[in-house]
Amino acid sequence: MNSSRPVLVVGASGFVGSRVARALAADGRAVLAVARHALPERVTVQPSVIPVLAADPVAQADAVREACARAGVPLPGAVVASIGGWQKGPDLLDLDPAEWSATLASHLTAHLDAARALAPLLGPGDPYVVLNGAASREAMAGSGAVSVTGAGLAMLVQVLRLEAQRADASPPVRFHELVIDHAVAGDDRNEDPAQTRAPAQVVRALGELLDDPGAPAVLHV
Ligand SMILES: NC(=O)c1ccc[n+]([C@@H]2O[C@H](COP(=O)([O-])OP(=O)(O)OC[C@H]3O[C@@H](n4cnc5c(N)ncnc54)[C@H](OP(=O)(O)O)[C@@H]3O)[C@@H](O)[C@H]2O)c1
Repeated sequence: MNSSRPVLVVGASGFVGSRVARALAADGRAVLAVARHALPERVTVQPSVIPVLAADPVAQADAVREACARAGVPLPGAVVASIGGWQKGPDLLDLDPAEWSATLASHLTAHLDAARALAPLLGPGDPYVVLNGAASREAMAGSGAVSVTGAGLAMLVQVLRLEAQRADASPPVRFHELVIDHAVAGDDRNEDPAQTRAPAQVVRALGELLDDPGAPAVLHV
């Protein structure tokens, strides 16, 4: 991607999103840090971060256009979607139906809503990277809803990628999935993980997807 255009990180208030936004900014990239709720200081303290707070993806897209015009920077040249997360709770058959519906909304539908609103900000060939986790590939007892939505998210990205490759696609962006196969170091919501990945490893893998137009559709880190 053209590095004079900012990278938009949506979900920049979250554990991974905030670390990705900070590391991309520390790497010298301009970052639009987009969230519904307040951003942590680790993000806002970076001089090349433009914070954008708005309640939903459509409002976020409008707020991004306004923030770019105000700051005199171009529209984003890439999107990183770090929406969702991991949780442990009851087995699927004991899960409160309202909690199931809430996880479908926050871990799957929210990604489609974000792509609908934010991908049109990008130009032809620009990257849109969706972060996903190990539960998308490995059935996890007690995290059934996250496993199911993670698997669905992997398919969602494949379909978006295929549809964006059609000759008349709008927008003709390149969709990728970055699967973080282990707990991200420092997140103590993961109890006793067998392995961890440092935020720097995640950002290095992300850099491959952002900067290489021939990068694979799916990358694991
Ligand atoms: N943490 C890990 O160890 C780990 C490991 C492997 C993979 N991952 C992957 O990293 C990604 C982010 O996980 P995380 O651990 O950073 O999760 P997190 O700390 O719980 O943050 C989740 C983010 O998603 C946003 N979000 C939730 N529901 C939303 C909705 N309906 N619309 C828009 N935004 C919404 C939240 O924003 P608000 O503040 O606005 O609610 C928050 O910024 C996920 O794909 C996860 O699978 C994480």
